[in-house]
Amino acid sequence: MSDELDSVRRSVISCTRCDLSKTRTNAVPGSGNAQTDVIFIGEAPGRNEDLQGEPFVGTAGKILSEALEYAGFVRKDIYITNIVKCRPPNNRRPNKQEIDTCSIYLQKELEIIRPKIICILGNTAYGSLLDGSAITKNRGKVIKRNNHLYFVTVHPAAIIYNPALRQVIKDDLKTLHAILDKIKKGTQIQINE
Ligand code: URA
Repeated sequence: MSDELDSVRRSVISCTRCDLSKTRTNAVPGSGNAQTDVIFIGEAPGRNEDLQGEPFVGTAGKILSEALEYAGFVRKDIYITNIVKCRPPNNRRPNKQEIDTCSIYLQKELEIIRPKIICILGNTAYGSLLDGSAITKNRGKVIKRNNHLYFVTVHPAAIIYNPALRQVIKDDLKTLHAILDKIKKGTQIQINE
């Protein structure tokens, strides 16, 4: 981890900017490789993440790891983070105020890492980063916004309720892997504005 990312990490761990800090066990900073070309962004920590202080280590994390491996990504080589860094009580969705208050940390993570593409996991990250309401229209596609490239897929936890999505996220991440290869080689990719 770079010194700059480590400084963001320490700020997240001691953050008291919103009331989620009062109910959390641990804040959950992003985790992974600062040199990565791709960042994966989920919603907020769940119970296991809150207990361990690491993103995507519970059931949803297992599903994400499996899809990453299937697609050819090595988990320790990429970077995984969340829109909101503390667990909302009872796993409710983070509200707009919590998302806005926490956004400084994600902005810093993006500025430091400067990934070639940002992978949005599910509707909360989609709503927060691309102002969309449901991912259906853009799932599996690349979107360009504010000079960043985004790739949109389902949230790994959605598979718990809808097992048919297990193959969807695997195939999407495989598509993302191929897109990243093309970006690195300078080959043209299809972009939706
Ligand atoms: N769900 C998320 O969105 N993030 C996590 O870290 C774990 C579950």
